[in-house]
Amino acid sequence: MAAPFQATELIARHVSGIPRSGIREFFELVQSMPGVISLGIGEPDFVTPWHIREAAIYALERGKTSYTSNLGLLRLREAISGCVERKFGIAYDPKDQSLITVGVSEALDIALRAVVNPGDEVLYHEPCYVSYSPSIALTHGVAVPVACSAENGFALTAEAIDKAITPKSKILVVNFPTNPTGGTMTRTELLKIAELVLRHNLLVITDEIYAELTFEGEHVSLASLPGLRERTIFLHGFSKAYAMTGFRIGFACGPGELIEAMMRIHQYSMLCASIISQEAALEAIQNGEADTIEMREQYRLRRNFIVNAFNSMGLSCHLPRGSFYAFPCIKSTGLSSKDFAVNLLEQEKVACVPGNAFGPSGEGYLRCCFATGLDRIQIATERMAGFVERLARPA
Ligand SMILES: Cc1ncc(COP(=O)(O)O)c(C=O)c1O
Repeated sequence: MAAPFQATELIARHVSGIPRSGIREFFELVQSMPGVISLGIGEPDFVTPWHIREAAIYALERGKTSYTSNLGLLRLREAISGCVERKFGIAYDPKDQSLITVGVSEALDIALRAVVNPGDEVLYHEPCYVSYSPSIALTHGVAVPVACSAENGFALTAEAIDKAITPKSKILVVNFPTNPTGGTMTRTELLKIAELVLRHNLLVITDEIYAELTFEGEHVSLASLPGLRERTIFLHGFSKAYAMTGFRIGFACGPGELIEAMMRIHQYSMLCASIISQEAALEAIQNGEADTIEMREQYRLRRNFIVNAFNSMGLSCHLPRGSFYAFPCIKSTGLSSKDFAVNLLEQEKVACVPGNAFGPSGEGYLRCCFATGLDRIQIATERMAGFVERLARPA
């Protein structure tokens, strides 16, 4: 007789160990409730600007429905190289130092797969984007989170990284402005980290997806600092700056050898990014800057409002200097992040993500995405203020 079939036993150990995203789990609950105001999913509320959608439609009309080169359309790579040089001051050869990917998600995955050997330690700052730790686990690497605190505006300090470095440390992943905290870094702070990277011979993966959504100060990429370009994989995409999440398009730039290694994984898994999305991305990069600035200014108004509202209701909230996330501290209420978020949802129909979905150091915080209309943010914060007030009142 055949042995009983146990599908779960067939799942690879390193996959069964990966948790479901805390965000998705929470939002399945939200979907089932009518009348909820969501400050949850990290996605622009703006529809992709019309001229970018039109470029996609026009591509279809012209019958652009084929594969492209594995690296992506050369015209797009040329435009990307020009844009990265102008905005970030880093020059990449479009012929062999850039690769078009299916969002930053794929770029991050193949960057890690290209460089991590089993047991290599990958450092990253936490709280951080939910996919970093699982993506590292999928490469059989060891995830080493370095906690950042509100006291430092969620910036990463060279001292904290230094303490976490061991002989097995190989890669440092950074994301500024940061999802979920809105933390940013000054040039001086980054220079200290650059010195450490060089001293310990690390490779950097920098996720620049919120770079254009920087509200104050200059945005500096680690890749642009002396000696770092040669040891950095620069990831960026169109999802946030151009409100193009559904197009699933991003890119990686870096030393030719590393881009070639990433391309080999990409060609056997994705083959190439969608040609329609590539055509739309070309339009975005060539003619979309004004749209990005307009959206950023809307986010800035909303940020100012929401941060002020949190501080007024007694939830201390640092000013996010980039991204579209506020990260108020809820420790004063005595509730855990999850209990706060669940009770707020049930009692007030406002959805926010518990801070610990972004790693244990996010416990005691809540991620509130302000990429939603000011009128809705206003109602949501009024409801939250009522909720916090009730918590403070003795029963
Ligand atoms: C920090 C960060 N990196 C990457 C991504 C994924 O971006 P994409 O839509 O380009 O795959 C996100 C999405 O929320 C993000 O916040």
